[in-house]
Amino acid sequence: MSESVTIGKKSREDQTAGEHGKCMLNRRQFLMYSGATAATASTVSLTLFPGTAKAAQAKARVVGYPRKLVGKLSEMKDNVPAVINYPDDGKNSMATMVKTGVKCGGGVGAQRDLVAFSALCTHQGGPLLGRYRVVDEHRIMGSCPLHLSTYDVTRHGIIISGQAYESLPQVLLELDGDDIYAVGMMGLIYGRNQNLMSDTTES
Ligand code: FES
Repeated sequence: MSESVTIGKKSREDQTAGEHGKCMLNRRQFLMYSGATAATASTVSLTLFPGTAKAAQAKARVVGYPRKLVGKLSEMKDNVPAVINYPDDGKNSMATMVKTGVKCGGGVGAQRDLVAFSALCTHQGGPLLGRYRVVDEHRIMGSCPLHLSTYDVTRHGIIISGQAYESLPQVLLELDGDDIYAVGMMGLIYGRNQNLMSDTTES
C-alpha cells in the first residue's frame, strides 16, 4: 500500500486535498474512516469478567473486509463503468467501478482516478447502475430515478443535489500490478444494518 510523500509538515496528498476542497480525504484518513484492514480476520485474547470468580480467558474473532479481486486496470477505459460486487455477492452488494480520467478522493492508479461506489442511492435505494455521467470537469453518479439525487464521485460520493442526506458508500480499491482489489468500504450500504453480513434486511 502506498504512503504519502511528506513535504515539511504536510504530505503532498494533504496539500492536494486542500486545493480540491476540504471534503477530500487523503489515503490514510480514508483507510481510517473505512475501517479497512489488511487482514481478513484476526484472533485476539481478552479476559471476561475481570476480578471475579468467573474470570476467564476467551478468544474473540475480529473480522475485517475481504480483499477481493474485482478487475484488471488494463481493461478499464476512461468513463466506461464496470459493475462489481462488494463486500460479498449478497443483496445490495452491486457497485459501479469507473476510471474517471480525473483525480478523485480515494482514487487509485497513476492518475488516482479509479474509484468505485455502491449502486444504490442512500435515500431509498434507487438504482444507480448506468447513471454515471461526465459533465465538463464533473464526474457525477445520478440522477437517481426515484427522487433525483446526484453524487460527486471525485469527492467521496458527497451529495450534489436531491433528497439523499448521506454520501454514496465508497468501495476502497487497491492495485497490485494490473489487478484491482476491493479491500474496504466507507459508508453503510443501503438496506443493510451492517456491511459485513450474509443475510441482509430491506428497510
Ligand atoms: S431513492 Fe434516490 S433520491 Fe430517493
